[in-house]
Parts: sequence; C-alpha cells; structure tokens
Amino acid sequence: MALLRFGPASACPVQPLKDKRMTDEQLLELAREAAAKAYAPYSKFNVGCAIESVDGEIATGANMENACYRLGLCAEQSALTAAQHKFGLDKVARIAVIGGADATVCTPCGGCRQAILEAAQLAGRDVEILCSSGDGSTVERHRIGELIPFGFGAANLNPPG
Ligand code: THU
Repeated sequence: MALLRFGPASACPVQPLKDKRMTDEQLLELAREAAAKAYAPYSKFNVGCAIESVDGEIATGANMENACYRLGLCAEQSALTAAQHKFGLDKVARIAVIGGADATVCTPCGGCRQAILEAAQLAGRDVEILCSSGDGSTVERHRIGELIPFGFGAANLNPPG
C-alpha cells in the first residue's frame, strides 16, 4: 500500500464526480502504463499521465523527448492534448502523474501546472492531481489551485469591466 500524502486544502471546491469514477489505484495504473510508452532516451526519466473526465472517460500521455532537447514534451501536456480530443478540456476532473524510478514523488513541472490550470479554469472546477513516485511507494494528492496559486489565466487577458 502506497503512502498517501495530502496537500493543503484549496480555496476552490472540488465538484463531486459521477459514478463512473475510477479508484486512485486504477488511475495511477493507467499513468504507469502510459509511462512505459514514454520516449525519453535523453533523460531516461519516464513520466506517464492519465486524465479522468467528469464522466469517467480517460485520456493518457507520456513525455516525448527530442535530440533538440528544448523541444521535448511533458507527459501532462501530451495527455491534456489527448483529453481535448477525446472529451474536451472543460471535462477534465482528475489527473494522475507518475515518473522516475525511485521513491521520489513526481509532481507536475511549472509549465504543466499552467497547462492544467487552463483546463481547470475552462471547466470552472479545481482539478485533483495524484502524484506518484516511480516505484509506487509514495502518492501525494494535490489540487491545481494549491500547486499554482495566483495563476495567470484568460481572465487576466480579458479583465471584467
Ligand atoms: N517531465 C514530464 O513529462 N512532466 C513533468 O511534469 C516533469 C518533467 C519530463 C520532461 C523530460 O522528458 C523528463 O521528464 C525529465 O525532465
């Protein structure tokens, strides 16, 4: 059984999901399977991501690197692209991320937090993020509102009034 850590409560309430919701373990297992399909020959740091919609649909992705290092794509952004195509970013409810090979928990990088925030703001709901170590021994439960407080979003470009 993995050690489960909770982050501080977010100001944004998490809306209840419909009854098709997977268990944490199932969603993390899909992220693990996605990580196995990563293309990460340079860092050798495989990351997998599984995204669950409010209706229980799933989209997955993994990191994909390039010989031109800066062109690499993170697992979360790969999965968010798949989610947009499968059910729409506005339906994103829950995300599982797993990366690396040891007991260090893999949390989304800053750019991925910004990308997840876009989905959360579009959906009008906070998004839960399960972050696991690669060896599966430790899992943290976070929310995007907690991982990127005071984030920049569409409202900053179009301020009301
Ligand atoms: N990586 C992700 O896929 N997601 C993150 O949130 C952190 C980092 C990838 C990028 C790169 O391919 C490898 O992990 C090492 O940084």
